[in-house]
Amino acid sequence: MTEVTVNGKVFQVLISRKELEEKIEALANLINSKYSGEEPPLLVGILNGSFIFMADLVRRLHFPCTIQFIRIESYTGMSTSGVVKMEADVSPRWVGRHVIVIEDIVDTGHTLSRFIPVLKSHQPASVFVCALLFKKEALEVSVQLDEYCFLIGRKFVVGYGLDYDGYGRNLPEIYQLK
Ligand code: XMP
Ligand code: MG
Repeated sequence: MTEVTVNGKVFQVLISRKELEEKIEALANLINSKYSGEEPPLLVGILNGSFIFMADLVRRLHFPCTIQFIRIESYTGMSTSGVVKMEADVSPRWVGRHVIVIEDIVDTGHTLSRFIPVLKSHQPASVFVCALLFKKEALEVSVQLDEYCFLIGRKFVVGYGLDYDGYGRNLPEIYQLK
């Protein structure tokens, strides 16, 4: 499908399934070579958007690891509300762990800039941050972003876990607002 309507707005395909698979495979290879032989890392996925990316990525990892999800929200409709709501289980389980943060998209950077210091205050052994998408032109604050799969423009995107007001997460490709 090249065009879809989500919640009354028309979107066109931006990133195909094949491109998604290739980039996620490349990221998994990189993470495999970085963490093989290390203490088992903890992968922390940021909900809701990262659930499909996380699922596709972890099935390509060949080392022992554990998985945690946390919920951070800042978007209402198509714009960031500026207020970052965080529901994190900040238990001591981050202490001494190699933590890999999995984010769907880095846009203004506020979500990660709020979360990473909280994570680091729990003294993890290391922190590696990766995102599927990076809207570099929209970045408002500097953030730790170690790897990303795709650099995209400012247009709002949906699909592959990302939503427009709750809809569109189930689309297998990434679509951008027409
Ligand atoms: P910030 O601006 O804090 O944004 O870097 C990160 C979070 O905002 C959501 N986000 C989007 N969701 N299409 C979406 O469906 C977009 O274009 C978009 N831009 C930002 C997303 O939840 C991300 O974790
Ligand atoms: Mg998100």
